[in-house]
Amino acid sequence: MSELIYRPRRLRSTPMLRRLVRETRMDPSSLIYPMFVTDGQNRTEEISALPGQFRYTVDMTDPKIEEMLEAGVSSIMLFGIPDEKDERGSQAYAEDGVIQRAVSRIKNKYPEMLVITDVCLCEYTSHGHCGVVCKCGNRCDVDNDKTLELLQKTAVSHAAAGADMVAPSDMMDGRVGAIREALDENGFTNIPIMSYAVKYASSFYGPFREAAGSAPSFGDRRSYQMDYHNRREGIKEALLDVEEGADIIMVKPAMAYLDMTREIHEVTDVPVAAYSVSGEYAMVKAAAEKGWIDADSIICEMAVSAYRAGASIYETYFAKEIAQFMKEGRIG
Ligand code: PBG
Repeated sequence: MSELIYRPRRLRSTPMLRRLVRETRMDPSSLIYPMFVTDGQNRTEEISALPGQFRYTVDMTDPKIEEMLEAGVSSIMLFGIPDEKDERGSQAYAEDGVIQRAVSRIKNKYPEMLVITDVCLCEYTSHGHCGVVCKCGNRCDVDNDKTLELLQKTAVSHAAAGADMVAPSDMMDGRVGAIREALDENGFTNIPIMSYAVKYASSFYGPFREAAGSAPSFGDRRSYQMDYHNRREGIKEALLDVEEGADIIMVKPAMAYLDMTREIHEVTDVPVAAYSVSGEYAMVKAAAEKGWIDADSIICEMAVSAYRAGASIYETYFAKEIAQFMKEGRIG
């Protein structure tokens, strides 16, 4: 007779049993696909640091949207790359700016696609910082409160163009409250805010900055994005944003910050989103190209880890592939 009482392997012994006892269940409707739109016409440019990802002029976005909808991915996050950049990022809140035109086209043609916009100034400023730069003493920094006004204008212009949700990623203090107030004043009380509340100053954004031409021309983002040594500070940011009216809290990057996804899931009662950023995508692509890893399996593990940590929304450049794996029952 066997002496063992506990045999955890029992529940792993067949594929049917393993499927039955899966603890993490996911669905393609929880995926967000990040997409870059740029000024100009009739151009689709591959981003060299993000092979397989492109910048689309607004008139060229249709096939990608259709491809995503067909794959079961029904949410996108739009990032705008304007031709003209200036000190105050005025194309971010221009009525005929690239994002405003993209949102309006996509929502008119594909109302079933949920369109979320990234609200930030760094893609639009000549200096590449996420707000208005000021001289504080002999040091250049981003002026928090002056930036808030521009973020309000940006968010309202996105909502006016038809965006379903706005996602501030600038990390200014008080931006969620300011944006909520501006949206409400303009009649957009039903437009939710997904706050990138827990956003670390990270080199994982490197390829994105190449894609958007948004690397800061001086200094770095450490006076507004968080120091990655800090956990309690991330909780503070998340709680403040919920208090200011954030409907969803995002943790970013995803893979190296899963502890934060778990923390935020524990301490808030709003949905938690994890954003697997450009550097995560680029690492997988590069290692796969060398034949060093099996990309598909790694993509699955990365995705499941975010949900297992507590995310109920996952933003990723691999959204289409993951939707397919979910449909096949490989994960989820
Ligand atoms: C804008 C913004 C960035 C990302 C999302 N929104 C860049 C940054 O903060 O430098 C990064 C996304 C990615 O790497 O995929 N502030």
